[in-house]
Amino acid sequence: MKKPLNIDSENPMDNVDDWENDLLVRYPDPAETKKEKEEFRNYIDSERLDTVREFYRLNHTYQTYDFVCYKEEEFLKFNKKEMSIWEAVDFLNTLVDDSDPDIDLDQMQHLLQTSEAIRADGHPDWFVLTGFVHDLGKILCLFGEPQWAVVGDTFPVGCAYSDKIVYSEFFKENPDYTNEKYNTKYGIYKPNCGLDNVKMSWGHDEYLYQIFKDYLPDPALYMIRYHSFYSQHRENDYVHLMNEKDVEMFEWVKKFNPYDLYSKAPVPPDAKALLPYYKALVSKYLPEKLKF
Ligand SMILES: [Fe+2]
Ligand SMILES: [Fe+2]
Repeated sequence: MKKPLNIDSENPMDNVDDWENDLLVRYPDPAETKKEKEEFRNYIDSERLDTVREFYRLNHTYQTYDFVCYKEEEFLKFNKKEMSIWEAVDFLNTLVDDSDPDIDLDQMQHLLQTSEAIRADGHPDWFVLTGFVHDLGKILCLFGEPQWAVVGDTFPVGCAYSDKIVYSEFFKENPDYTNEKYNTKYGIYKPNCGLDNVKMSWGHDEYLYQIFKDYLPDPALYMIRYHSFYSQHRENDYVHLMNEKDVEMFEWVKKFNPYDLYSKAPVPPDAKALLPYYKALVSKYLPEKLKF
């Protein structure tokens, strides 16, 4: 029997990372062969895409300026849990998906594949570390947050939504869409005010940035904070809000993106063998315990 779609659920996707498969349809790996692309499209069946669409409908309907303020209030007190990076990785790994164990990787594997691909290209160690931690903010799911408030493309709130954002037609359901304070090109912002002054939709990117902001160099922090901001780093549609520093730093965000999307190696990295390297790297930059 065909499984019914989770259309009436707050969490329509079977796996919190199914939206990333939609990213691969939108931004296919230029290095992939035609055959690999076809195989991938067969794997992304229409049912999965329907649940991703439903996920974006919820995301675009409910990510308002006020919603972001409310979530900042709730989560930027960092009073949920105190953990080392290793405890956080273990915790994140409890977010398992049993729908497709052959294809979907556990979270630790995605992190290691990203960071190992960065390391193999000879980038600085803080860049490797960024790859290793960039999705730890997804533990928001384990604090009971719905998928649409954890993953998905991020975008500025408080000003008009770009039509370059995926499924932008769903913004019509968002109350800010008709609010004159928020629905103009600049909304509450000034031209080139800098992204630091712009509120982004709430999710794992902003949350993790806020936890790490005192520990990593600027390019790493930009990669963490804006890695899901596709309407800028891929579509270049928010330059009018960016200052010179943002423009410069987005070169790093762009450099990071292919590692995030296309680093799925055929042989999964050997987590155990890699552990000593990552232990040393984590303790070079991060404190023993972090507040989540
Ligand atoms: Fe991510
Ligand atoms: Fe990722």
